[in-house]
Amino acid sequence: MINLEKIRQDFALFQKTINGQPPVYFDNACMSLKPLPVIKAINEYYNDYPACAGRSGHKLADMVTKKVAEARKTIAEFINAKHTEEIIFTRNTTEGINLIAHSLKLSPGDIILTTDKEHNSNLIPWQILTKKINVIHKIVPSKPDNTFDLEKFESMMSGQVKLVAMVQTSNLDGVSIPAKEIINIAHQHGALVLLDAAQSAPHKKINVTDLDVDFLAFSGHKMLGPTGTGVLYGKKYLLENLDPFLTGGETVEYSTYSGHKLLPLPEKFEAGLQDYAGIIGLGEAVDYLKKIGYENIAEQEYKLNEYLTEEILKIPQAKIIGPINPSLRGGIVSFYIESMDSNQIAMLLDETSNIMIRSGQHCVHSWFDAHNIKTSARASLYFYNTMAEAEIFINGLNKIIKIL
Ligand code: ALA
Repeated sequence: MINLEKIRQDFALFQKTINGQPPVYFDNACMSLKPLPVIKAINEYYNDYPACAGRSGHKLADMVTKKVAEARKTIAEFINAKHTEEIIFTRNTTEGINLIAHSLKLSPGDIILTTDKEHNSNLIPWQILTKKINVIHKIVPSKPDNTFDLEKFESMMSGQVKLVAMVQTSNLDGVSIPAKEIINIAHQHGALVLLDAAQSAPHKKINVTDLDVDFLAFSGHKMLGPTGTGVLYGKKYLLENLDPFLTGGETVEYSTYSGHKLLPLPEKFEAGLQDYAGIIGLGEAVDYLKKIGYENIAEQEYKLNEYLTEEILKIPQAKIIGPINPSLRGGIVSFYIESMDSNQIAMLLDETSNIMIRSGQHCVHSWFDAHNIKTSARASLYFYNTMAEAEIFINGLNKIIKIL
């Protein structure tokens, strides 16, 4: 059980009012809030040791090198990676996926399998590869309730599938795929698996060793960390055999006018000066999440999601995207009301009640296009949200649908 009142003191936004009212922040799938220890760690870097890691040899540079190494170790342990050097720092999930798309050695005719609910970040890179090198992109259709169809997936697997690249938890509806079973089946057919963990890492325990996943990408900004930070995990032997897609400073041991020797992992994938403050802040965010505990996160999200679901379904013509059962949708309630504009709903919630949600197609345009649904309004929760906020949301929603 977490002490919500105490935890909320760590988040500056909860100490503020906007136009005289407290903000209700339900846009966590886009961006989480940042607790004070994360901000403190970032400030400490800029105030106390604002230097380069791994280049200069002075005291301040040593301090940065040490802190970055500590953050890498914290994250490796957090996701149970076997080797610290399997943690590659990136700017975000998108960059991690693009790294794989650019570096994996695929050939014409190879199949890449995705779900039908991929965020553009795990769709566009593969679509580009179909044009560039004639790989084939195939999509596993979900069941009618938008949950994963394992049987269908298995029937689509073959030796021609070289990569299964799937979103672990959907930002559209909060549904998670049975990752372990998928990975097991993919491996039986000799395919590699890349998980887009942008929406799972903030909400559920990731154990890359237990999952046996080959690559996994996530972002810092949805899990209490700084913006512009992310991680690509890859199995050591696989990363060792990939060429970097960004090259330059800090990736090589030496260079001559005619050649160069790449550094080993992880440096060969971390080109140019890094976001040291961000990386250190991300390490701090992981420490904070560990203290909160994933069971507590899931419990709080479920409690609020159950209430929101029940109340939204009382609204005539309201439809929830994904299964009705809130326990299958983590912290996400994505809904639309026939005959009402979701963007207007979101705008009015903000204007009238300081409620921040996201509306639109949530970078999953392809799913909306295929289902002939215009947009949805999405409330996305995190452990620091309260039942009182959920009630403000429902009251606000009920008020505005009367005027729409
Ligand atoms: N993918 C993020 C979201 O769903 C940006 O809001």
